Amino acid sequence: MQRWTLDVEKPDWRTSPEADAACAALLRGELVAVPTETVYGLAADATNATACARIFEAKGRPQFNPLISHVPSLAAAEAHGDFDAMARRLAEAFWPGPLTLVVPKKAASPICDLATSGLQSVALRVPAGPVMRFLSERTGRPLAAPSANLSGKVSPTRVEDVIADLGPSLSVAIDTGPCTVGIESTIVGLTGDGARLLRPGGLAREDIEGILGAKLQEADTGADPEAPEAPGMLTSHYAPRAALVLNAQEAEPGDALLSFGPDRLPGAANALAEFNLSPRGDLTEAAANLFLAMRTLDSSGSGTIRVQVIPSFGLGEAINDRLRRAAAPRP
Ligand code: TXA
Ligand code: MG
Repeated sequence: MQRWTLDVEKPDWRTSPEADAACAALLRGELVAVPTETVYGLAADATNATACARIFEAKGRPQFNPLISHVPSLAAAEAHGDFDAMARRLAEAFWPGPLTLVVPKKAASPICDLATSGLQSVALRVPAGPVMRFLSERTGRPLAAPSANLSGKVSPTRVEDVIADLGPSLSVAIDTGPCTVGIESTIVGLTGDGARLLRPGGLAREDIEGILGAKLQEADTGADPEAPEAPGMLTSHYAPRAALVLNAQEAEPGDALLSFGPDRLPGAANALAEFNLSPRGDLTEAAANLFLAMRTLDSSGSGTIRVQVIPSFGLGEAINDRLRRAAAPRP
């Protein structure tokens, strides 16, 4: 595996030999770890079924779980999915950015069935992180990329975390430093009437509803809670090794404490470790720190990660969603 650091503040990264070699690896069907503004992605050519199979194999991911395809622009996305007026409005308002749109898949799209798990729909995203957009544009391929972690584990926001989980499976790991948003994209389903929130994420519900001029509908969870509409949203996910206890009012000795805001929990001084997601109580900063905090506290040796109450508006909805999943009973 090669690890490359790209300084995307300098314009010449696009013409570097590293960028060329990453494109060549993707076109050979190999796996490349690519940063986005949300989390690091495990990227492969979405039109190459063998390459996509390598993603599932590397992650140990159940094959029924479809992948997001990343493209450089709305125009590129329209080769793969049908965008009605509502879909186009959301794409124009929030792309590039932390929003994934699930739209009806075009019959002519070359995205392979393995990437969509054979569904009639396709999940598309134009990320703000420039490297993924660039690699898709330069290769001319949509890039399938789930979060670059082992299936069910915490998503990676630093290249070190990717390499720890997936190093041997990668051809290349591209490092642009920590992700700025730090939590996965918000997924909106547009395959029926109206817009449904399939996964809360790095774009707040309120911002989407502001553009829609309407409330987002809830995802159709169906009769089977293990086969929801966004198939990746299984109950237990994002699981650290330690047990997670939510909405703590008080810390206990030996805890790993996940705190938020300026008010320290009673007993915090006796905790084994503490990570404050945002001492000033800022939910955007907290989202950016969430997965690093879970990894850091999990490696503290404590058996319990105790979590202070975090408000559920704005990005707090996505933060609490990930924490609830991390705290759910393990399969
Ligand atoms: O921020 C992100 O979204 C990151 C970065 C790398 O872009 N990617 C990511 O991918 O979180 P992943 O594979 O971990 O999550 C994709 C989610 C899964 O829950 C999957 O079930 C859902 O998208 N999904 C994909 N295609 C779908 C479809 N056609 N219909 C419904 N849900 C879909
Ligand atoms: Mg994931």
